[in-house]
Amino acid sequence: MLSEETIRALEPDMVEWRRHFHRHPELSFEEFRTSEMIAGLLESWGLEVRRGVAGTGVIGTLRGARPGKTVALRADIDALPIQDQKTCDYASRTPGVMHACGHDGHTAQLLAVARYYSLRREETAGTRVFLFQPAEETLPGGAAAMIREGALDGVAAVFGCHLWTPFPYGVVATRPGPVMASPDEFEIEITGRGGHAGMPHLSSDALLAGAHLVTVIQSIVSRNVNPLDAAVVTVGRIAAGTANNVIAETCRIGGTVRTFTEEARDVIRRRLEETAAHVCALHGARHEFRFMEGYPPVVNDPKETARFFRVASALDGGWKVTECDRIMAGEDFSYYLRERPGCYFFVGAGRPDGSSAPHHHPLFDIEEKAMFAAARLLIAVADDAAEAS
Ligand code: NI
Repeated sequence: MLSEETIRALEPDMVEWRRHFHRHPELSFEEFRTSEMIAGLLESWGLEVRRGVAGTGVIGTLRGARPGKTVALRADIDALPIQDQKTCDYASRTPGVMHACGHDGHTAQLLAVARYYSLRREETAGTRVFLFQPAEETLPGGAAAMIREGALDGVAAVFGCHLWTPFPYGVVATRPGPVMASPDEFEIEITGRGGHAGMPHLSSDALLAGAHLVTVIQSIVSRNVNPLDAAVVTVGRIAAGTANNVIAETCRIGGTVRTFTEEARDVIRRRLEETAAHVCALHGARHEFRFMEGYPPVVNDPKETARFFRVASALDGGWKVTECDRIMAGEDFSYYLRERPGCYFFVGAGRPDGSSAPHHHPLFDIEEKAMFAAARLLIAVADDAAEAS
């Protein structure tokens, strides 16, 4: 049974830790002070601690006094290269770096869960493994390396959650099967022939080829991907030109592809390559095409997801437990779910009126009560899974 009293007593610490991490964010694979603080706290509570996993990751292990399975719980600990524009006292003090995705909250809530178990060791069945993973935000991510270094050894099931501001506080959601997309990236570098803007016939305009390419790319999802298969192609970046009166010699385009199936992923990759080749040929420009495969899609195990729904609905959190749509963001939690059954779920951390800034925005912030909800859910589902026969 979840001890409401024990977890409730940890809420002020959770908020304090979260604000500390928020003030002192660190980029992917550079989470040195963050992981030092995590490891220090876990050690002070008597957990077995492994430092330096996947570079800056930390794994804490707690063996309960009663028999049961080993369940892993994961938090990502990295921040983003974004300038915090908030003015609150816990705004980032590191220029150009910010916890703009809530990973500070993930870290704080998993610390509270670890502290909870250290206080409830006698009542705990089985073992809990706490995965504090670096670098969720940057390919190749920290999850695959954590697994290579033994993060899932002996683990029967794995759970994780994202504090999610598109959902208001009070909503708890996930779905069985595919829940988050595979995020690939592409870059196209176009080289034409620069020259005098007044004499375009003597040049090959890389900027025009790039502009044309950006619009033609938009037909890939609408005309080439099976309409029953969800997919996104976004061009997020274009750079060309040096002066108003110069024809651009080069144009660089960068973007991302989001899919749930290998079929859609292959079609998009092939059509991006073909479209780039043909459009550049049309404009008499050369090009280079690069495609960087991202994380696999996050696919929830149906049985563990059913467990999560049952446990979350039985807990009195005053929340609404729902099955959500698939989400086109990516997550390297997918790697854990390829190795072990488990479930990744979302805890609403947005304002009730929907006015919260989106993830990865300079004004991003979370409703901190959501961490308390997430901690309770993680404990309840881990206990249920550890005690399952
Ligand atoms: Ni995130």
